[in-house]
Amino acid sequence: MLVYIDGQFYDEKDAKVSVFDHGLLYGDGVFEGVRAYNGRVFKLSEHIKRLYDSAKAIMLKVLISESEMIESVLEALRKNNLKDGYIRILITRGEGSLGIDPITCARSSVIIIADSLNLYPEEFYETGLAIISASVRRNSPDVVNPKIKSLNYINNIMAKIEARQAGVLEAIMLDRNGYVCECTGDNIFIVKNGVIKTPPVYLGVLKGITRDFVIEIARDLGYIFQEEIMTQYDIYTADECFLTGTAAEAIPVVMADSREISNGNVGEVTKSIIKEFRLRVAQEGWEI
Ligand SMILES: Cc1ncc(COP(=O)(O)O)c(C=O)c1O
Repeated sequence: MLVYIDGQFYDEKDAKVSVFDHGLLYGDGVFEGVRAYNGRVFKLSEHIKRLYDSAKAIMLKVLISESEMIESVLEALRKNNLKDGYIRILITRGEGSLGIDPITCARSSVIIIADSLNLYPEEFYETGLAIISASVRRNSPDVVNPKIKSLNYINNIMAKIEARQAGVLEAIMLDRNGYVCECTGDNIFIVKNGVIKTPPVYLGVLKGITRDFVIEIARDLGYIFQEEIMTQYDIYTADECFLTGTAAEAIPVVMADSREISNGNVGEVTKSIIKEFRLRVAQEGWEI
């Protein structure tokens, strides 16, 4: 595999960054995860826009333009002969001194890894996931805004560890008031009385590109959609539940905190969303 670092491609064993990079020392950087399906890169401009917005929010100067970034992503896929895959883009603050002050970092770095990623085993797309609620809370928007896709994922990692310890693969993260935000790497949706609902972004939720796409699909399929603040009770008593994310796509949830959601089977609305999702992702996007 060939990895892009600052304008050059390196064999994966030679693709290395400095131990003084503040991305490593302090999690000082931002990232994106992007998918390619069937020779096309899905929602590439949206991902690049969010990447540059994240960088702007943390005052991280990216040394290449958005169009150069797009071209580099496409080139990384071409160099690796990938028509389907997962692309990780990172922008780190770059090499600096041991103090946190980013002023010592002269140049930010761009890394692009084009590979594959299977977040959940295929069987769960048919049978649905069991999830728990984590005790660790999602970052508050007034602290580290979850809209920024930063290299600081410690809360989410701790929630993921709680999930694993409970014998499941995913965890719901609440905000400090106990309202449902999202899962560790996915947005969450429920279906109740025919209405598709997801928590509003202002609570402290990543504005998922898959989330937006699923909302578009839901509307196109004629479902009623609304953003709504929800608690664990709303998840437990939902008719259906599913998660969305670039890596996860759309995946059903059939149990939360040991309560079956409805009768514990994957719901019909979820099935129709997943079906339409798979149809559309293979048809649109930037040609590699
Ligand atoms: C915390 C979190 N929520 C939601 C998502 C889903 O966002 P997207 O659909 O843009 O991949 C991600 C994706 O990485 C994430 O890290």
